[in-house]
Amino acid sequence: MFKDSFKYYKSKNPPPELGRVLDFDCIHKFKNKVQQVPLPSTNLSPFFGLKPLDTWEVYEITDRPGLIFIRNPFTPLGQRFWPVRCLKDYSRKPNKSNLDGFNLVPDNKDWWELCQSSNKLLLNKLRWVTLGYHHNWDTKVYSESNRSKFPKDLKELTAFLAKALGYDNFSAEAAIVNYYHMDSTLSGHKDRSERNLTAPLFSLSFGQTAIFLIGGESIEDIAIPIFLRSGDVVVMSKDSRLCYHGVPKILQVDSRRWSLVENSSEKLVVKEHKEVMDICKNDALWQPFGDYLTHSRINVNVRQVLYDGEVQLD
Ligand code: OGA
Ligand code: MN
Repeated sequence: MFKDSFKYYKSKNPPPELGRVLDFDCIHKFKNKVQQVPLPSTNLSPFFGLKPLDTWEVYEITDRPGLIFIRNPFTPLGQRFWPVRCLKDYSRKPNKSNLDGFNLVPDNKDWWELCQSSNKLLLNKLRWVTLGYHHNWDTKVYSESNRSKFPKDLKELTAFLAKALGYDNFSAEAAIVNYYHMDSTLSGHKDRSERNLTAPLFSLSFGQTAIFLIGGESIEDIAIPIFLRSGDVVVMSKDSRLCYHGVPKILQVDSRRWSLVENSSEKLVVKEHKEVMDICKNDALWQPFGDYLTHSRINVNVRQVLYDGEVQLD
């Protein structure tokens, strides 16, 4: 069943009918499929780039217990900050990417710089970057010898999202950043490489819209299609942590969610990343990043690997 839905939504000719895709921008049409999740009351102080907690719209899909959807909790500045980090910074060494080993990027250069200064064709070649425990695409096994430092800002962001949902001990230890272009897909899979499969998984989307399919524990279970728009957060927790899922299609949309940095009255800033903040606040500096997002989607897929209290794999 998952495969049939994947094929249906991937098809270019004929294009799929989108009326059944769960759309959190028109949630009144899907009232019987989701329920609103009340946030546990916390006294969390606001986090950079996120809207105040009391304005968040959080849902759980009734037929997929544990599949939590947070409708764009990011501010316009936050919508810019994470893509800039993903493109300019996370794409660099010691993080690993699909471009490693092809000699496309000289050792003294980095991918984003090179794309901007001379090689525009390289822009669409970056497909994934791994952070922290590097995902091994062949063995699917994490190891201590294939680990680099996890970015502090992303660790803090996901710890904040986790706390807001009542997970006080979430610790981001591995992430895959996926870079999608208009014809990219991600086939159905389960993420089960992590030693700790009870911790939730956080999936952040930026840029173009995806159709995301969430299946069940069996590949035969039906898959529920959902629009994931820029800023939306999906949390795979509890029973949904080990469900099949994939992305059969990227859809072209407008750029409203990241275009308005009008009143950057946001008081919270990230001191460690002044250069990134400057880019986000200056339309001319932001432009190449905005251009990238007009034909791409970035997904940041963050996992805890270890059990609470563990510091390494043995
Ligand atoms: C993944 C993943 C989903 C997405 O990276 O494992 O499932 O929305 N990504 O891109
Ligand atoms: Mn996945």
